[in-house]
Amino acid sequence: MIKGFIGIAIILFLTGLSAAAENACVGCHTSVGATYGIINDWKESKHALNNVTCDKCHGAVNGDKDAIGHNSFLITQTPSPSDCAKCHPGQVSQFTAGKHNLGWTKMIVAARYKAIPDDKMRASMCEGCHSIGKVYADGSVGKCDSCHTRHVFSKVEARQPEACETCHMGLDHEQIEYYKKSKHGMIQETNRTSARAPACITCHMDGGTHDVSQGITIGTVSQGAFLSDNSSQDNYVKDRNGIVMRAITQEKFDTNREKMLSICIRCHSRNFAKSTLENADDIKVQADKKVGEGITIIEGLYKDGLLDPMPENRPPNPVTGNNLTLTGQQTYSNTSGIEAEFFEMYKYALVHSWKGAYHMNPDYAHWYGWAQVNLDLNKIKSQNRTLRRIAELEKTKSPKAVPGFEAALVFGLIVSLILVQKRK
Ligand code: HEC
Ligand code: HEC
Ligand code: HEC
Ligand code: HEC
Ligand code: HEC
Ligand code: HEC
Ligand code: HEC
Ligand code: HEC
Repeated sequence: MIKGFIGIAIILFLTGLSAAAENACVGCHTSVGATYGIINDWKESKHALNNVTCDKCHGAVNGDKDAIGHNSFLITQTPSPSDCAKCHPGQVSQFTAGKHNLGWTKMIVAARYKAIPDDKMRASMCEGCHSIGKVYADGSVGKCDSCHTRHVFSKVEARQPEACETCHMGLDHEQIEYYKKSKHGMIQETNRTSARAPACITCHMDGGTHDVSQGITIGTVSQGAFLSDNSSQDNYVKDRNGIVMRAITQEKFDTNREKMLSICIRCHSRNFAKSTLENADDIKVQADKKVGEGITIIEGLYKDGLLDPMPENRPPNPVTGNNLTLTGQQTYSNTSGIEAEFFEMYKYALVHSWKGAYHMNPDYAHWYGWAQVNLDLNKIKSQNRTLRRIAELEKTKSPKAVPGFEAALVFGLIVSLILVQKRK
């Protein structure tokens, strides 16, 4: 049967009829052993209804970098956004304007990415989430099946908070939990069909836009941002506390905040919504200061040569080499105890405090966030004292002191020997 299909495919390919490809792809893939699960999914989609067959997305032409020969057709295994853009140019250009577009390029330059021993490990780790910003062979960016999974490509599925949760979860960005345990999430979960409470996309994809960066201010990804005259969507700088993050101008802050408020005021008073967000802004500023205290302490130890081990005595950071590296490019491997403690403070506790607050989740803002930041800072202060005390002790039994001690010992021995002799 397969051979028959190949024969038909070759004939039809030679006659150059695209209808031929349509039937050949769907026909053969329907058979057992040729991914019929994909056909079942595709049949459920709007694409099937509109005759958007396999070849419309997977078709390739000679010269395409990702083209592979397949049963006498030229296809690609990985259709890219420029394939989708033939029919959905709007969604593709909106996607390009938002930060999902940076997912891959920001990941590959990260020290924590480079520090993972090999490509295979990276593929099942960072790349599983950051593929949302995948860069394809044709240069176009964005893995569209990140939210509406292939080959159903459903917008109903993508609207659910669960469509975001594979990635927006976990220790350093637990948005799904912040949200689900907030009043908004509770109402959504108890009454799915209701529009009473917002879902993720109500606030982040207003009107169906694929630019998820609309309305974001200092509560942006990773370590967030701070107010400064020099802002950039792409570049990180050190804030006044020494944390590596983005910067945003007051002007941009105001425009973006207005955008977010325009969504809240569909259901809340402006005053109520505005102060909710301002309270979260304040949590971010206060928690950043606490982390700044931690940075000052560790920099002090570094200057005094007291980190154990010192950066020059451990394998180099893949990006910054043998220098002290805190926050942005800090790694969790090959570090010292106090820096590892700091890592947990800035990477997990710090972000829970304000990311939790921006998602109206008091528990994350306080217990997982602010409280944990303070506990971690206590541990850092205590380790600082311990390291310094040990250094003091080592000084008192420094190399000079040792001969004196030995001399006293020898003297003592001689005296006791003389005494023993005398008794005899
Ligand atoms: C004669 C049967 C047959 C025809 C015709 C056929 N396919 Fe396939 N295709 C298969 C089988 C079987 C596999 C699974 C191969 C495997 O598991 O390695 C496959 C795999 C694929 C893959 C995955 C390739 C990879 O390397 O991962 C894609 C994409 C694909 N087909 C698309 C198409 C498209 C598009 C068409 C029409 C232009 C088409 N196929 C026509 C049988 C066919
Ligand atoms: C609307 C566009 C579109 C259509 C139509 C489409 N695909 Fe795909 N397909 C994709 C995308 C997007 C991917 C994932 C690309 C990536 O991984 O970057 C994919 C991946 C695949 C893969 C490889 C991944 C896997 O799960 O094995 C196979 C095989 C495949 N498609 C087969 C088919 C077949 C057969 C048809 C026709 C029934 C079809 N596709 C129709 C867009 C499409
Ligand atoms: C040849 C044109 C064509 C291509 C290529 C194409 N689509 Fe579509 N797509 C359509 C049509 C037609 C519809 C149905 C529109 C409608 O019902 O209003 C649709 C609908 C959709 C929907 C909405 C489904 C729903 O639940 O209403 C999504 C999501 C989608 N496409 C994603 C994609 C993605 C992602 C790609 C690229 C991997 C892609 N499409 C490639 C033509 C295309
Ligand atoms: C496949 C993983 C993945 C999925 C699914 C995903 N995201 Fe993201 N998202 C990311 C990554 C990675 C980033 C950070 C990108 C960067 O800046 O490098 C991000 C960033 C964001 C941002 C921050 C934008 C900014 O300007 O700071 C928002 C908001 C967002 N996503 C919302 C969503 C929503 C809503 C959904 C579900 C509808 C969703 N995401 C689904 C991976 C994902
Ligand atoms: C962050 C999750 C996410 C990603 C990534 C994503 N989409 Fe969507 N998409 C959605 C959501 C949610 C909707 C439904 C929006 C709404 O409420 O109308 C949607 C709707 C669509 C629709 C239907 C539009 C309509 O008005 O019927 C198309 C077409 C579409 N997306 C194409 C794409 C393409 C192409 C890409 C890749 C560039 C992509 N999507 C990536 C979440 C996503
Ligand atoms: C009621 C509106 C609302 C809902 C619902 C919502 N968010 Fe947010 N989100 C915000 C606000 C407000 C910010 C911070 C805006 C700023 O920077 O001023 C934010 C920020 C983000 C960020 C940037 C990092 C951070 O946490 O501050 C991501 C990523 C994000 N949201 C993802 C999601 C995901 C995923 C969901 C659903 C699970 C979701 N959001 C639900 C309002 C919302
Ligand atoms: C569970 C999915 C997931 C995994 C695994 C993951 N990330 Fe992320 N990453 C995200 C999301 C989602 C964001 C943005 C949300 C936020 O920060 O609140 C993000 C943000 C980032 C950022 C900030 C991007 C920017 O524009 O500033 C970098 C850099 C980053 N991740 C690198 C990595 C590296 C390196 C790894 C592996 C060592 C990794 N991530 C593993 C989901 C993931
Ligand atoms: C689609 C309508 C809707 C949108 C949009 C919305 N909310 Fe809500 N929100 C609600 C409902 C309903 C409740 C539950 C009120 C209660 O607890 O009785 C709620 C609860 C809250 C709560 C906690 C309960 C309380 O009274 O203190 C806060 C805080 C909040 N919203 C802030 C915001 C902010 C800020 C935004 C915009 C970023 C926003 N909401 C967007 C409907 C919405």
